[in-house]
Amino acid sequence: MRLKNIAVMVSGGGTNLQALIDAIKKGEINAKICCVISSKAGVYSLERARNNDIPSIVIEKKEFLSEQDYDTKLLNTLSEFNADFIVLAGFLSILSKKVVSQYKNKILNIHPSLIPSFCGKGHYGIKVHEAALAYGAKVTGATVHFVDEGMDTGPIVFQEATEVLPGDTPEILQQRVMKIEHRLLPKAVSLLVDDMLYVDGRNVVIKNSL
Ligand code: GRF
Repeated sequence: MRLKNIAVMVSGGGTNLQALIDAIKKGEINAKICCVISSKAGVYSLERARNNDIPSIVIEKKEFLSEQDYDTKLLNTLSEFNADFIVLAGFLSILSKKVVSQYKNKILNIHPSLIPSFCGKGHYGIKVHEAALAYGAKVTGATVHFVDEGMDTGPIVFQEATEVLPGDTPEILQQRVMKIEHRLLPKAVSLLVDDMLYVDGRNVVIKNSL
């Protein structure tokens, strides 16, 4: 059987992309990254792809006349690289119903909070941590979830919490949460590519623990 292909979609620095690259190198994920798709030009994720001989492409929504044209480009790219799975690793755009339905239960996203807190519209990047601090949350964390048609609404695979400590700034909190992200995402991706995740409604079950 051929090695499964993962398309990683990014918009920024790509520390989560790096965590996936490192996990693959260590043999912790039984798959290869077939391409990195960035929603923005010039981001450091593209450099990481280059440094690791991973093909990359920039697909910016604003360059397309319609959502349909954008989707066509995205889906053609995914099929050109034979992508079996998609991982959104700091990807700041929303995938359309069309893309999501073609990759049903095959797309994972990492979000830097305990969903359903501090997620959805406007909650991305440092803003998530600003919101957690402004709310006075005592715990926050990271969530890996399947992507459905909504924003941060798909079935949850893993969550891990960390305390919000006195003196935390959004940046300090972000760093602490990112350490969790870099562990949780490769773990979830490894199970996904090995076909070990079973989605039962909102519930994600790890197959060998059935
Ligand atoms: C991460 O916190 C991720 O959860 C969020 O955006 C950030 C991206 O970081 N969606 P990086 O590009 O992986 O370094």
